[in-house]
Amino acid sequence: MERLDKVLANLGYGTRKEIKAAVKKGLVTVDGKVAKDNGLKIDPEKCKIEINGEEISYKKNIYLMMNKPDGVVSATFDKYDETVVDLIDPEYNVFNPFPVGRLDKDTVGLLILTNDGVLNHKLISPKNHVDKVYYAEINKAVCDKDIEAFEKGIILDDGYKCMPAKLQVMKADNDGSEVYVTIQEGKFHQVKRMFEARGKKVVYLKRISFGTLELDENLEEGEYRELTDEELKSLTI
Ligand code: URA
Repeated sequence: MERLDKVLANLGYGTRKEIKAAVKKGLVTVDGKVAKDNGLKIDPEKCKIEINGEEISYKKNIYLMMNKPDGVVSATFDKYDETVVDLIDPEYNVFNPFPVGRLDKDTVGLLILTNDGVLNHKLISPKNHVDKVYYAEINKAVCDKDIEAFEKGIILDDGYKCMPAKLQVMKADNDGSEVYVTIQEGKFHQVKRMFEARGKKVVYLKRISFGTLELDENLEEGEYRELTDEELKSLTI
């Protein structure tokens, strides 16, 4: 059970003071009865709350997919840079979403934002073997030896041996390469460091899928939308 004013404030229906005033004016009903006390204890998942005759839609969690743009950090706060959360409208930000894992400042593409800690853990724990697919452009020609090395497990500069990764080469010549990389971990700068270990440099990196979730190509960089029920269901099973 939660306080009525807290529930409404968390959903973005105003400050606690504003909600108290609305209750005082008799504008808030719970299950059809005018609420007399802003501190009324309610179960928001079970009761019907109306403000000014309009039913509020209660949800506890928010699930967003963003096409992360270049130059923005995957954090909820940063002293110097704009964060992915800064790009989100207040109607969603009242849920305090945070990014699931991190993309580098210069990496673009699929980023999930949620306030669901359980799903976050499920998606980022390497034990759960959730595939993350990246499209990458590389400064040199990627060869079969690189594919084998990725399959075996690349050893990073700090001695860490990566889990086996899949490298699919779309184009490779002296001008550079276009590849898809599938990894199940999320070490700091992982894809970039995997290529560095092979003497190559990632010049462009975009995440295109995360588990069952694929980046919606209709989202321009910087845009986001809520996950559909089907997308969320397939992520959580
Ligand atoms: N690997 C990287 O190097 N950077 C990212 O942002 C994601 C994976």
